[in-house]
Amino acid sequence: MKKYLILYYSKTGNCKFVAEKLSREFTCDIEMIKPGINNTGILFLLSLMNISVPVNTSASTIGKYDEIILIGPVWGGLLIAPLKSILKMCIRQTKVIHFAVTCESKESDKNGKYGYNTVLNKFKAVADKMTGATAAFSTSLITGYNEKDYSIKVKPKFTNANFGEELLKRFNIFRQSITGINSDVE
Ligand SMILES: Cc1cc2nc3c(=O)[nH]c(=O)nc-3n(C[C@H](O)[C@H](O)[C@H](O)COP(=O)(O)O)c2cc1C
Repeated sequence: MKKYLILYYSKTGNCKFVAEKLSREFTCDIEMIKPGINNTGILFLLSLMNISVPVNTSASTIGKYDEIILIGPVWGGLLIAPLKSILKMCIRQTKVIHFAVTCESKESDKNGKYGYNTVLNKFKAVADKMTGATAAFSTSLITGYNEKDYSIKVKPKFTNANFGEELLKRFNIFRQSITGINSDVE
């Protein structure tokens, strides 16, 4: 049986929600990524300037697993620095790496500068042959989503109640692509 490690970075809980939900579906370990710098503004700037940051997860930890599942947020359409740090460690050790993002952009913007496909494509360009399954979970897909309910200060959050049909469909496809398990979570 393959050994899986889920690594997630989450500032406001959405990636944590997806990572923990996934971790309940099959035998795996799960660890939160803690970057050496965790100030959003600084981390964003470093990501923009393509400067790497140290993370708590070590290469020897990654070495113990067959496949890595990386989950993190879209910030400014970038593959953010802590995720890139993990990705590089995985590539060095030729580990298959599955990748999911959470974001807030609408489906109609998914290919735009700040859209999730932009980040998934950046990931694929770096991961190359080690690319596994990919997925995007946008908060614009939550059940009952209404743009007017949210602002820069009030962000939509995933909950068991609002992680509805389309998100679950994506979740199941992602999980199935990783593990080959084909029964659906409802
Ligand atoms: C600094 C910052 C930049 C963001 N940029 C984008 C973006 O470019 N595109 C997008 O769809 N969402 C963007 N978001 C929204 C996050 O991707 C979204 O809220 C995500 O679910 C957060 O994950 P977390 O709760 O695990 O931290 C941004 C959020 C922050 C804090």
